Amino acid sequence: MNSNNSFRNKTILPLCTFFLLAATATNFLRAQTTNSEGTNSISGAPAIPVLQIKADQIAAKVSPILYGLMTEEINFSYEGGIYGELIRNRSFKANSTNAIFWNTVGNATISVDKNQPLNAALNVSLKLDTSYASESSPVGIANGGYWGIPVKPNTAYHASFYAKGGHFNGPLTVAIVSTNGGTIFASAEVPKISSSWDKYEVTLTTGDVSPSKDNQLIITTTKPKTWWAKLWGRPGSVWFQQVSLFPPTFNNRANGNRPDIMQLLAAMNPKFLRLPGGNYLEGDLINERFDWKKTIGETSQRPGHRSPWDYWSTDGFGLMEYLNWCEDLHMEPLLAVYAGYSLRQQRVAPGDDLKPYVQDALDEIEYITGDTSTTWGAIRAQDGHPAPFPLHYVEVGNEDWFDRSNTYDARFSQFYDAIKAKYPQLQIISTVGNDHPESLRVHSRTPDLVDEHYYRSQEQMESQSHIYDDRPRTGPKVFVGEWATRVGSPTPNMAGALGDAAWMCCMERNSDLVLMESYAPLFVNVSDLTSTPRSTRSMQWPSDLIGYDALTSYGSPSYYAQVMFSAHHGDVVLATDSQDVPTYTWQPPRGRNGASAPRQVPSLYFDATRDSQNGTIFLKIVNRLGSPQSVHVKITGANNVDSSAEAAIMSASSPDDTNSIQEPTKIVPVTSNVDGLGADFTRAFPPYSITVLQLKTN
Ligand code: AHR
Repeated sequence: MNSNNSFRNKTILPLCTFFLLAATATNFLRAQTTNSEGTNSISGAPAIPVLQIKADQIAAKVSPILYGLMTEEINFSYEGGIYGELIRNRSFKANSTNAIFWNTVGNATISVDKNQPLNAALNVSLKLDTSYASESSPVGIANGGYWGIPVKPNTAYHASFYAKGGHFNGPLTVAIVSTNGGTIFASAEVPKISSSWDKYEVTLTTGDVSPSKDNQLIITTTKPKTWWAKLWGRPGSVWFQQVSLFPPTFNNRANGNRPDIMQLLAAMNPKFLRLPGGNYLEGDLINERFDWKKTIGETSQRPGHRSPWDYWSTDGFGLMEYLNWCEDLHMEPLLAVYAGYSLRQQRVAPGDDLKPYVQDALDEIEYITGDTSTTWGAIRAQDGHPAPFPLHYVEVGNEDWFDRSNTYDARFSQFYDAIKAKYPQLQIISTVGNDHPESLRVHSRTPDLVDEHYYRSQEQMESQSHIYDDRPRTGPKVFVGEWATRVGSPTPNMAGALGDAAWMCCMERNSDLVLMESYAPLFVNVSDLTSTPRSTRSMQWPSDLIGYDALTSYGSPSYYAQVMFSAHHGDVVLATDSQDVPTYTWQPPRGRNGASAPRQVPSLYFDATRDSQNGTIFLKIVNRLGSPQSVHVKITGANNVDSSAEAAIMSASSPDDTNSIQEPTKIVPVTSNVDGLGADFTRAFPPYSITVLQLKTN
């Protein structure tokens, strides 16, 4: 045990023990609150809780890569989300027989044609019969995007498509128009179409218009066919493939990302991106996994695949796009490699059968990190990025505890040995964490880290807000790769943010053990929350950090809690102690083993970190009560604590308060300078609040 750990045992461990003991002993002595399950009692005058911060006692180092992001294609995270593409089902492969999400304009007929493929990857096309077009009645195709196409003023959109004429040679008009057809926002002409597949591109520039999203892209013609087809009575037709429309993107990357969502993420100051999932890595079936080699290179050469969240991915957002995303936000990829298990209990046996998948993982690592003298490093250079990307962490699989045949240990070992042999510097993460029974965990190798997932109610999250305080420091480090307080839909409300903040205090306080954390899911398109089946609505999983529609985006209170934590912390954890912390009574729901006893759970959470360079102490205090909570803060071991400090406070008048597309900033942190602080002060913390005080010392 290192000195930090022994120190922890003296300071932090007694603190959590204290919570439990104090709860029982003082239940009758202090004012309490009613929890969301309605259990509680009131009595006596409350004692003011006391927090001691021992500024001369460092309990742990704060992991410099603690705060990161987790991502996958779910809730229209990429297509219909961060990926700039505005056309839905651009490759016509989302349904094998119908051109779903495509409409006709005028007297047109359209069909999915399997006999006119663009290439082996995009092996179908959309056939438009142009025979009934006339000057007064254009015919064509229309796409309404992902619940709309955003139109912004004075903006240049890049439209492109592959086309091939059959007794038809143009022209085609490409335009962004309102859904009701009444307003043309921008339009351009492609004068001629050849009789073989070619790519056509135009720029559509809007004028001084109001932002709107009830719009569509249309491609139309008024000329039905060539003169010789008219002469011989032949129909005119045109085939389309990869019809695409991009607005300006973050950093102006081609095939890039939506700027407003990237800006929200940048404010989180994330250090890593866990990619590409999640269930999305595994797929329902082996042939629906994230098969990375099919997601790189020219987008027109990517076949796409069905995702386990029930909708089609074109894979326009592929491995290189993830890596560019990392580069743009100065974060590292944390690569999850497919480990031979897919969700419908399909698995690859360890041994010879698994070898090609292990090789795929080695190739993927080479694609990311190899120099241009390596096979896959050279392919990455061809794909536009000669410089290797940084990579330190590789996770083997995702949630393989679901594998009922229990082969993870053997599969993990095979990946572990091969990766360590070629890349000894890489840290290998087991996807089965200590939150699962011993029998499911890896035993034949020692993972460098284990990934633990916690999707919980507010009370569950708060009641486990000490679990790392007393975990032995001898085993693997922890990556909390997915977690969320799941209260509120589509995005969490203030109750969710309070549960999150309690949990983040725990992770930050223990970040010598918990090296990394990432909330999940990250994104949700909020345009259609209710349609059935699941594939047709824009949300497959409620309680997501960031919401958006085609036009605008917003952060949930949980998002702002993340920003408050990730953007405000020091590099060391200070030892703390407390007395008279109030508690509430919580009855855990019945579990597999029946009912359990009611628990006393703290109503106040905190942690303190310090910036060793300038001495600033970041004190985080979470008040989950519906009344102000006075707290007596005593700081020892620091010289001259200033009486004023910057305070960031996020509070709500109800735990149900939330943000939405209509009210994107109802609940946000407010920063101000506050007085009356110092080495010994008492301050009231507002109801339902998260506070970060930046206390200056010297
Ligand atoms: O975050 C949603 C899903 O939860 C992930 O895809 C999966 O890993 C977990 O079960």
